[in-house]
Amino acid sequence: MKKVFITGASSGIGKALALAYAKRGFTIGLTARREEILHEISKEVEALGGAPFVYQLDVNDAEKCKSVANQFMADAEGIDIVIANAGIGGDDGLFSGTSDQINTILNTDILGVTNTLMPFIPTLKAQKSGAIVCISSVASFIPLPFHGGYAGAKIAIRMIFDSWRPTLDKYNIKTVSICPGFVDTPIVKGPARRFPMKSAEDAAERFLEVIDRGYSTYIYPWPYRILILIVRLTPERFYNWLIKKMFGKPIQ
Ligand SMILES: NC(=O)c1ccc[n+]([C@@H]2O[C@H](COP(=O)([O-])OP(=O)(O)OC[C@H]3O[C@@H](n4cnc5c(N)ncnc54)[C@H](OP(=O)(O)O)[C@@H]3O)[C@@H](O)[C@H]2O)c1
Repeated sequence: MKKVFITGASSGIGKALALAYAKRGFTIGLTARREEILHEISKEVEALGGAPFVYQLDVNDAEKCKSVANQFMADAEGIDIVIANAGIGGDDGLFSGTSDQINTILNTDILGVTNTLMPFIPTLKAQKSGAIVCISSVASFIPLPFHGGYAGAKIAIRMIFDSWRPTLDKYNIKTVSICPGFVDTPIVKGPARRFPMKSAEDAAERFLEVIDRGYSTYIYPWPYRILILIVRLTPERFYNWLIKKMFGKPIQ
């Protein structure tokens, strides 16, 4: 039985990934802060044919990330795939006079990812197989106003993966950065919900294929690739004018 460890499995994309792996008979480490929801999801995982283990985990707690990673590798008797999915969105608090809001986002969405992944890497290296996955975002290519912390964090994890890839590749460890556009989950709030969205279930099915094939950076769904290209080719002054017109006020 293959083994996958997922952070942020209590909701949205993480939950959908867990259920998609359950259908394929995986042993699944379900982690998030809201443990009671994870226990409900673990029943669904079992019903679909997966073998769940539940762990309460805040990815900001580096020591707990280490102990939970070791506990999962003992419980599941190994590790194949680690998905650093947990993340938060939100406004930077640009005019708040404090760094509280933006730093909470930066801590969770960057350090939460390294806290999650680092404890597994020695085992993956020793066995010379496996995959680590981060859920970056289209926002790492096209930042939205008032969401600099989120965009910066999503670029940071993508760049960390770009740096690690050639080294980990030597040990047959895949490094997959997934960059979704809007997916219908609770993280998408307010006026942002007017954008077209894919379902978390469709997204998860596609992400499983992408992880299996060992893509490096995957932008989903495909029209965002064209949008990113257009933005890259747009003169900066025009782009700045346009984005100011479109998003004059905080969108969350
Ligand atoms: N939906 C989109 O449009 C979209 C687009 C691009 C990228 N993404 C990325 O996809 C990932 C999943 O987001 P989602 O859309 O599925 O949103 P979501 O439904 O809000 O799920 C976020 C998950 O992260 C967990 N989480 C948040 N802070 C945590 C912490 N400190 N420690 C542990 N777990 C934590 C939450 O669980 P608890 O609250 O129970 O801890 C929840 O399970 C995120 O990294 C997000 O940035 C989403």
